[in-house]
Amino acid sequence: MEHISDYLCRYKNYIFISCMINAEHIDSLQSFEIRDSDIFLVTYPKSGTIWAQQIIISICELSGGLNEYPNNCEQMPWLEFREGSEHYSLRPSPRLFSSHLTPALMPLGLKDKKAKIIYVMRNPKDNIISYYHFSSVYFNMETPTSFEQFLEQYLMGNVVGSSWFDHIREWHSKKDQYNILFLTYEDMILDLKAAVTRICSFLGKNLSEAAIDQVVEKATFKTMKKDQKANYEFVPKERLSGNFMRKGQIGDWKNVFTVAQSQRVDQLIQEKLGDLSLKFIWE
Ligand code: A3P
Repeated sequence: MEHISDYLCRYKNYIFISCMINAEHIDSLQSFEIRDSDIFLVTYPKSGTIWAQQIIISICELSGGLNEYPNNCEQMPWLEFREGSEHYSLRPSPRLFSSHLTPALMPLGLKDKKAKIIYVMRNPKDNIISYYHFSSVYFNMETPTSFEQFLEQYLMGNVVGSSWFDHIREWHSKKDQYNILFLTYEDMILDLKAAVTRICSFLGKNLSEAAIDQVVEKATFKTMKKDQKANYEFVPKERLSGNFMRKGQIGDWKNVFTVAQSQRVDQLIQEKLGDLSLKFIWE
């Protein structure tokens, strides 16, 4: 394990928060036993994770058979951290997990393509802005000294989750090995009902029109902001002095990026991901 700053360390080519990593647990994930009914949400940090959590949890709740947990974090815990005292192998099915990991660190059993993975990507400029703000309010991350400094750090991949570009490339290039649905944050903003319907159908859940509308209503920014199970305001203020639910928009990057910074990101997308033909919605 390589310590790269007071807050960050690199393990198996991935950057973790130093005080939160348990190398033994990360190693054990390779042989983590997968159930056919498992659902994994995978994202690069600040891409709409808690939003997709709310959608997946609401769909599963409405289709029945989900155990109650006090909040979405406990209902859909991070695979890479052992939350609470309940061992993941003892959780009742269907188990829901969240993760920011790359394919190389995920359980090998996912490759039998039975368990489902939903991958949510966000355009990198809005992702950078969201990450920049979050780094200033989360106690386990170094507060950036300026946007320029954070941008450099992000573009070098020296942030939790490593490089955004590598995360996107690795998941996209290995997609045939998994049972995976790719969605974007922007898809969800532009047509939430269509995104919910796609997730429902991928999960094989047959919800009525009224139930789908209910999921959509529970997942709007306005509703989630008030939903204490979903908005992560249960995280104590001394650990998180701001909100996960910040602006929830496409295009906030335009308020911060210079033209040169924006062109630099465009160029890196072209260089690093050009062959993947990804489409980005910037506003
Ligand atoms: P902003 O910081 O741009 O507002 P994550 O959950 O991966 O940490 O991502 C957090 C981002 O998702 C934040 O973006 C947050 O506002 C946004 N988000 C969360 N719930 C949302 C919702 N219901 N609608 C739109 N954006 C949402």
